[in-house]
Amino acid sequence: MGLGISFIYFAIILFLAWIAGVLPFLKVFFTTVIPYVALVVFIVGVIARIIRWGRSPVPFRITTTCGQEKSLPWIRQNKLDNPSSWLGTLGRMLLEILFFRSLFRNTQAEFRGDRLVYSVDKWLWFFSLAFHWSFLIIFLRHFRFFTEPIPSFVTFLQNIDGFFQVGLPIIYITNILIVAGLLYLFLRRIFDSKVRIVSLPSDYFPLLLILGIAATGILMRYFFKTDLVAVKEFTVAILSFQSVSGDLINKLSPLFVIHFTFVCTLLIYFPMSKLMHLGGVFLSPTRNLANNNRMKRHINPWNYDVPVHTYEEYEDEFRDKMKAAGIPVEKEV
Ligand code: HEM
Repeated sequence: MGLGISFIYFAIILFLAWIAGVLPFLKVFFTTVIPYVALVVFIVGVIARIIRWGRSPVPFRITTTCGQEKSLPWIRQNKLDNPSSWLGTLGRMLLEILFFRSLFRNTQAEFRGDRLVYSVDKWLWFFSLAFHWSFLIIFLRHFRFFTEPIPSFVTFLQNIDGFFQVGLPIIYITNILIVAGLLYLFLRRIFDSKVRIVSLPSDYFPLLLILGIAATGILMRYFFKTDLVAVKEFTVAILSFQSVSGDLINKLSPLFVIHFTFVCTLLIYFPMSKLMHLGGVFLSPTRNLANNNRMKRHINPWNYDVPVHTYEEYEDEFRDKMKAAGIPVEKEV
């Protein structure tokens, strides 16, 4: 059900983008109006969500603990899985963000006959990492279209990414990895019944959309050449808020318009989707706080004064009755 709906959304966007690629007046709209709408929605949407999350109160330390907490001096603390200092927390955050450390622990449960068996499953970690890193590198490599002169890190990344020098144009390793990663994440949701049952359109759609972006990009690079000089001129004009001439728009191939429209859709969809985990991972209190609960008493700052009845007062009040009933008391007075 979720898969079908996502396919329909994806097909509608693909159809509109394709029509825009061939109909001049729609092409102007899709290449000069939609990108600005997308940028504004993306920037405002992401900032609004981050501010909303940033304002949620976090009065207590609720860190995820996967190892020995700092305790008595002769008990060895697990400084990364249960950090008590900001340095340990930084290390844990970096390993989480750059290498998906918690996903590395992923296990899989399945019935073998009538026995429930748990096994190690590193594939999800591997393909997720491959996809995310490839996406980042591809995005950074695209700066050759966005800036003039081309920054030196772009050339560096291009050289590393095309290291094997296979094919002409040289096949980028990230092009293979991003497609492999996305396909794994997508097919896993379809063929693993446990994952399928919890999957929603909002799980399938972003995968389809990013797969669409990668596929059209790959088609453009290896199979249907597009006018890259025109693309660069167009992108630089859009990003520097200059007008784009009709001639220039004519030079943009329909495949590029589809690629570009998918990217705009991604920008618009981003702030309202699960893709916001890009910002959320930094703000997650279960990860970004040191676990110093035993070293420091954390008091809820907006606790109001509550009239309390301490045990001492209680005993003073009921001592005679307690003694009479044979209940032990702390003070004999
Ligand atoms: C979410 C952002 C984007 C992603 C993930 C993405 C992905 C890709 C991929 C995987 C390729 C295949 C070749 C390569 O890896 O370089 C590609 C090619 C291409 N992309 Fe993108 N793209 C994005 C944004 C854009 C934008 C904003 C533009 C231009 C405004 C653009 C223009 C192009 C062009 C012209 C090519 C063909 C490159 C060539 O022939 O060498 N892309 N894209």
